[in-house]
Amino acid sequence: MLLQSVAHAGSTEGLRTRYFKLKVSPMEPPASDRVPAADAPAGGAGATSPSAPAAASPTYGEYLGLDAVLSAQHPRSGDHNEMLFIIQHQTSELWMKLALHELRAARDRIRADQLAPAFKMLARVSRIMEQLVHAWDVLTTLTPSEYTQLRPHLGTSSGFQSHQYREIEFLLGNKNPAMVSVHAQREPVRAQLERALREPSLYDEAIALLARQGYPIPPEQLDRDFAEPRRPSDAVEAAWLAVYRDPDRQWDLYQLAEELVDLEDAFRQWRFRHVTTVERIIGFKTGTGGTAGVSYLRKMLDVVLFPELWKVRTDL
Ligand code: HEM
Repeated sequence: MLLQSVAHAGSTEGLRTRYFKLKVSPMEPPASDRVPAADAPAGGAGATSPSAPAAASPTYGEYLGLDAVLSAQHPRSGDHNEMLFIIQHQTSELWMKLALHELRAARDRIRADQLAPAFKMLARVSRIMEQLVHAWDVLTTLTPSEYTQLRPHLGTSSGFQSHQYREIEFLLGNKNPAMVSVHAQREPVRAQLERALREPSLYDEAIALLARQGYPIPPEQLDRDFAEPRRPSDAVEAAWLAVYRDPDRQWDLYQLAEELVDLEDAFRQWRFRHVTTVERIIGFKTGTGGTAGVSYLRKMLDVVLFPELWKVRTDL
């Protein structure tokens, strides 16, 4: 058992909050999280090591790069409601950036058998997802009549082209090589997505952990082409079932399972609120990205990220 010192919590809510105070030991950030040298700020927070004090204190705006952030809204229509549309997307992308930062680190921690910090990161991602779910409430104030004024100015741009969203999906295990070629014209983005496609997902690492902890996981689940979608496995389901049948025996794996279910739960809610908001605003018109629109998004509701963890509920 990895986390002998961790006391049991009586509910999932307890599990979420219990880890909030755990200290995260320093670890090299993954390469994909590091600011490329060309983009790093010349002074201020990004240029110093975490412990070294900044030479001169930055102002609030300098520290947050507010000039760049607040000058990044460029409405094209002259319509009052376009600002909402832009900021809704931009804030979502910022939260996705944080989610990616946490997910990559959580995956690396699981790989290193450091579950306590991984739990805290996963709990944070679930809260980010909930934040994004609630954000739809703001967008629902955009009526179909108002959206009609904006649509001609959007061209073929669409959330379908959100490379951060796609990377989150890849990290969670929804691998689809076709989604990489959407970004063929933007090499750094394409390369980053390709990398994420080929790397093990968070769930791949959870399954590898099950194997390290002695559960009989077939080799084809562990040593496989990670760019391909993973096939659900009876052996993985049996392993999770054993964990759920006796949570006290390996509480760490039990907690990991519940953190993952929490995450997928929140992600499903995001997808559901998206498709409902889209139907409310554009009905069954095709999307600006060229899909059938609502019917495409409804199909995405059937995607299951951690299938064995959901099946185990029926088995118990
Ligand atoms: C009026 C608001 C919105 C409408 C009408 C809308 C509509 C659509 C449609 C029709 C699609 C399918 C692809 C296409 O053909 O374009 C789509 C995909 C997508 N949208 Fe939205 N959307 C809206 C707001 C948002 C917001 C605020 C976000 C947040 C970032 C977002 C993120 C996405 C993502 C990530 C996809 C890809 C989903 C997937 O492939 O599974 N959308 N959207």
